[in-house]
Amino acid sequence: MHIENGRYMLEGGVDPLRLAEKYGCPLYVYETSTIKRQYDRLHRAFRLKKLKINYACKALNNISVLKYLRSLGAGLDTVSIQEVRIGLIAGFKPEEIIYTPNCVSIEEISMAVELGVKINIDNLSILEQFGHLYPHYPVCIRINPHIMAGGNTKISVGHIDSKFGISFHQTPHIHRIVKAHDMVVEGIHMHTGSDILDIDVFLQGAEILLQVAEEFKDLQYVDFGSGFKVPYKEDDIETDIEELGEKITDRFRQFCDSYGRELTLMFEPGKFLVSEAGFFLVRVNVVKQTTSTVFAGVDSGLNHLIRPMLYDSYHRIANISKTEGRSRIYTVVGYICETDTFGVNRKLTEISEGDILAFYNAGAYCYTMASNYNSRYRPAEVLVHEGRDYLIRERETMEDLVRNQVNIDIFRNEPLSLNAPGDVLSESLKHREFIHMPTKKTEQDV
Ligand SMILES: Cc1ncc(COP(=O)(O)O)c(C=O)c1O
Repeated sequence: MHIENGRYMLEGGVDPLRLAEKYGCPLYVYETSTIKRQYDRLHRAFRLKKLKINYACKALNNISVLKYLRSLGAGLDTVSIQEVRIGLIAGFKPEEIIYTPNCVSIEEISMAVELGVKINIDNLSILEQFGHLYPHYPVCIRINPHIMAGGNTKISVGHIDSKFGISFHQTPHIHRIVKAHDMVVEGIHMHTGSDILDIDVFLQGAEILLQVAEEFKDLQYVDFGSGFKVPYKEDDIETDIEELGEKITDRFRQFCDSYGRELTLMFEPGKFLVSEAGFFLVRVNVVKQTTSTVFAGVDSGLNHLIRPMLYDSYHRIANISKTEGRSRIYTVVGYICETDTFGVNRKLTEISEGDILAFYNAGAYCYTMASNYNSRYRPAEVLVHEGRDYLIRERETMEDLVRNQVNIDIFRNEPLSLNAPGDVLSESLKHREFIHMPTKKTEQDV
């Protein structure tokens, strides 16, 4: 999003205020041009013929986004059987999907085997069971290199105390199991955690992974995971992908020479590909001035965007209804019955109730972490591609909130009837105007 002739604009001249009007708020909007820019950047940085970028769909799992990434040439990184299925629905072939679960049952892993996807195992117990059941199904092994990377302890997953991966000190145990069941290890993997700041820390982890890799003679690929940091603020630091690309490319070529075969280098970025592509548009319900603070209360909360509360993550905020005029300092908060502060002391152009605010970096781990807390609907999602906007997920409705509830009909109070006129459901549907629905038709509606 950028400012053009005094107005905020998305790619191809799409006006975000028009989207807020057309689809209602709160609203997630994603630009394909940013996804492509980031995908191309990665490809340019790692100058290898055999390079595979498996998009980590936990970041943003809308099927239209997955289809777009597949059209660019990406594979898919998944962590649950449901993500595997979503990937298949989006058109990925089983061999384009890698499944990297943690602490799931062997039954779930068996389902993934039936679907024919690549399996990445991250503990010795499951490796043993897997070898017993499927000795001839090739596996990848997730190694924990014991390095500390990650912007927050909740997203640092490659250190010694982490539940993820098999410690590289346990490589002899891996060999024992592999040998006992005559297994084929086709890949070696690590994922150190999000927000890598220092390239050398990553390279240290990579070095350990390559040391482990050279002990396995049937490899097809080495997967370095992800954790590339993106900027959140103006002039924020980000992983220097170009420098990392240069260093890893050289080292990997050297490794393949000594290994005796050209292997595929894999990565599985989520945030790097989609974070900056997303904007979350919300409407200001209330401007509330207290004796110490000016709050802007918006029609959303931690139910739709939990990262600031969960990870202390920073999302830049702009008042896109006004690009000029005086600024004031606001604390932007949600409507949830707990403290759900999106940003403290943010300098924004003066807010009037009804103005639209945009949260930046809303492509990764935002919609996928959204919930129905406080019985709120999850927002709609819109994709902006080549100057046009496409609704790619509808806003939820009251039906979605009650769909799976079972009326056990044993209590004495008024029965919960979902179908009779005047009942709970129909009453609530009458009040749909409480969410900001579109009011006017625009050119692209007709
Ligand atoms: C195994 C694995 N791979 C890839 C990713 C993607 O990480 P990021 O979004 O930081 O690129 C994650 C994120 O948690 C992960 O757990």
